[in-house]
Amino acid sequence: MDTGDSTTARPTRYTHGHEVATLASHGRRTAANSAAYLLPVLERGMRLLDVGCGPGTITLDLAEILAPGQVVGLENVEAPLVAARSAAQARGDARTQFRTGEALDLPFDDDSFDVVHAHQVLQHLSEPVRALQEMARVCRPGGWVAVRDADYAAMAWHPELPELEEWRTLYRAVARANGAEPDAARRLRAWALAAGLEEVSLTVSAWNYADTEACRWWGNSQADRYAGATFAEQAARQGGTAEDLERIAAGWRAWASAPDAWFMIPNGELLARIR
Ligand SMILES: C[S@@+](CC[C@H](N)C(=O)[O-])C[C@H]1O[C@@H](n2cnc3c(N)ncnc32)[C@H](O)[C@@H]1O
Repeated sequence: MDTGDSTTARPTRYTHGHEVATLASHGRRTAANSAAYLLPVLERGMRLLDVGCGPGTITLDLAEILAPGQVVGLENVEAPLVAARSAAQARGDARTQFRTGEALDLPFDDDSFDVVHAHQVLQHLSEPVRALQEMARVCRPGGWVAVRDADYAAMAWHPELPELEEWRTLYRAVARANGAEPDAARRLRAWALAAGLEEVSLTVSAWNYADTEACRWWGNSQADRYAGATFAEQAARQGGTAEDLERIAAGWRAWASAPDAWFMIPNGELLARIR
């Protein structure tokens, strides 16, 4: 039962953590492969906030598109911002700012940005509706709130190795124990309604791994991630043993080298015009 003060932000534990395999995986994301639904409304000079920006590769792509507009990447922990700042430096971007702050209690005045974006973040929050309300608050009237989240239950793959189904069951249990919602895409419309967003468009786009190099990279990166200490500690609390995690990691490696491997991650996209 929630007996807490509804005005106090209650950050959720971030299930993936910031281990090397996770940051490397997020670091392959670009505006083109992860934010295509948002690109048509962007205009040079717009100010954009990227909530839960992680290692910042999408943020920096968006900054390039919006230059000379100011872009800010926000994280509630410092760890991924080290990678984000060094990526900015490598790209010669001295304008984009990376700072810490809480998604459920954004450290900005009302109407501060033209676009407020969050990629694969709402699924990790205990109060996604509150996060959307905060995003709308700091967005100016006429501006855009843009959110994209995956849906674990709707992911599909071949070959259907039992260890991958075991991984999905365990991951969803761990995320829910953290107060998060791994099947987020299907809930975006409900969350938008609850947040009071009125002018909303909802789309879906998928990431697809379907050639030898992509499947090898994705499967081995998943094996490293779920064999790592961050997940092991959380899995143990849901009854996942070290042997279970070893079996799951071996399953991912077997999948990664299957000559006919195929994986699909559906992502829900929410683009809301703020009134
Ligand atoms: C799956 S990662 C996505 C990173 C980046 N947007 C991307 O797609 O590459 C989710 C990020 O949200 C951040 N995060 C989780 N909870 C947060 C909160 N309450 N406030 C701000 N950031 C948060 C995590 O630290 C993590 O870097």
